Amino acid sequence: MEWMIDTANLEEIREAMDMLPITGVTTNPSILKAALPFDYEQRLREIRALTPGCSMHVQLGSEACEGMLREAQELQALLGDDIYVKVPVTEQGVKAIRLLKARGVNVTATAIYYPLQAMLAVSAGADYLAPYCNRMEQNEIDFGRVIGQIRDMIDLGGYASRILGASFKNAGQVVRAIDSGAHAVTVPPALLKSCLNSALVTDAVAAFTRDYAKVRGER
Ligand code: G3P
Repeated sequence: MEWMIDTANLEEIREAMDMLPITGVTTNPSILKAALPFDYEQRLREIRALTPGCSMHVQLGSEACEGMLREAQELQALLGDDIYVKVPVTEQGVKAIRLLKARGVNVTATAIYYPLQAMLAVSAGADYLAPYCNRMEQNEIDFGRVIGQIRDMIDLGGYASRILGASFKNAGQVVRAIDSGAHAVTVPPALLKSCLNSALVTDAVAAFTRDYAKVRGER
């Protein structure tokens, strides 16, 4: 099980790295936009520096294959050869995934809503597949079923691709993605915190703290 964080906010990243068993950090242009103002390249370098030992997944901005290949090279020059470039699974994207993998680039196939997209990305060699759970749910697509189908296909074919559940808006979606076969999830840190700090949990801990004081004879 891998836990990644879906954010470009440096404070959130620092806090999550300090507290949680994080293995990677993911962004996309919209996540980065939410963290403006900053210098794009500097922010990516800062995120990289804050997450040693973690995988870093950065989305490409171009829609055409040629642009994606160029950008991937630029990102590798900026952040290191071991980054994962996030490629949306479109026609141009599938083409780019094949070419990037032929060059040995790590690829996270993203914007996945349909099993067929995932299957094509797996065949093209993608390392991670990011199905968009909340967005699927909003469009009446059963994301748990889709993840289960993708996982069956990966296991049956003996592929190395890993499912990275993404686009989460509540804890139930995260749990369902894992339960359905996701190898990894990328979650906004605020969502993880809201679960760890829920009133049910904190009230229980407060009662234990009061009782602890009593059993230790403290006033
Ligand atoms: O990593 C998930 C992200 O790319 C999409 O998430 O919240 O915009 O649906 P969201």
